[in-house]
Amino acid sequence: MRQTIIAANWKMHKTLEEGLELAVAIKAHLQSAPTTDKIAILCTPYIHLFHMVETFREVDHIHVGAQNCHQELQGAYTGEISPQQLSAMGVPYVILGHSERRQYFGEDEALLKAKVDQALAQELQPIFCCGEPLEVRETDGHKALVKKQVEEALFHLSAEQIGEIVIAYEPVWAIGTGKVASPEQAQEMHAHIRQLVADHYGTATADKLSILYGGSVKPNNAADIFQQPDVDGGLIGGASLKAEDFTAIYQAG
Ligand code: 13P
Repeated sequence: MRQTIIAANWKMHKTLEEGLELAVAIKAHLQSAPTTDKIAILCTPYIHLFHMVETFREVDHIHVGAQNCHQELQGAYTGEISPQQLSAMGVPYVILGHSERRQYFGEDEALLKAKVDQALAQELQPIFCCGEPLEVRETDGHKALVKKQVEEALFHLSAEQIGEIVIAYEPVWAIGTGKVASPEQAQEMHAHIRQLVADHYGTATADKLSILYGGSVKPNNAADIFQQPDVDGGLIGGASLKAEDFTAIYQAG
């Protein structure tokens, strides 16, 4: 049985104080939520992470993640954070390849491959993002592009390593736009990704892979998307910034 994951991506939101308030509110809401085969992962700005690890230390079903890391272990890379630094602080997850990193910071598959490798070497679990821009979907190139993104960044890994990866499908045209993929569109792409993994690593490995959907997930559309057989939860941006909304989405998973 694969794990359902409802992950929050706070992006570049919340001061330290605001973030800690939100964390405490989410903890209060989710502490008594059912936990069987379902976890929450809160991916916050770096400034919150130390406190987040402390806040959720005793809560088995709420985990903490970073939104990026560097591909080197350490060194003269001013302004960067290494996977070793995250892992040593007790952070278990890191988002890699978010479309905003690809778009604004020029991250490509070769760089992401290096980041995935270094994260895994430091025992951080990558939440690897893939997804197509609108013009690619409009010309029916979405499946080919996602195949390329996943294969080039991940398919050099061993079956054991791929078991440590969470994949998030986030169509770029649905991120922050209020334009959510239909449950059928999400299911179609998730099944495609799972099939790619099955073809390369076998069905047993593919069946265990959690594939999350991201892009304008809200309390009123989460259940329909999460009900799809190959959708194992979500990666939530805007709606993760309100404890009530994030809780409602968690409960829909
Ligand atoms: P929104 O939920 O705000 O569309 O953001 C999705 C996202 O990018 C999560 O990583």
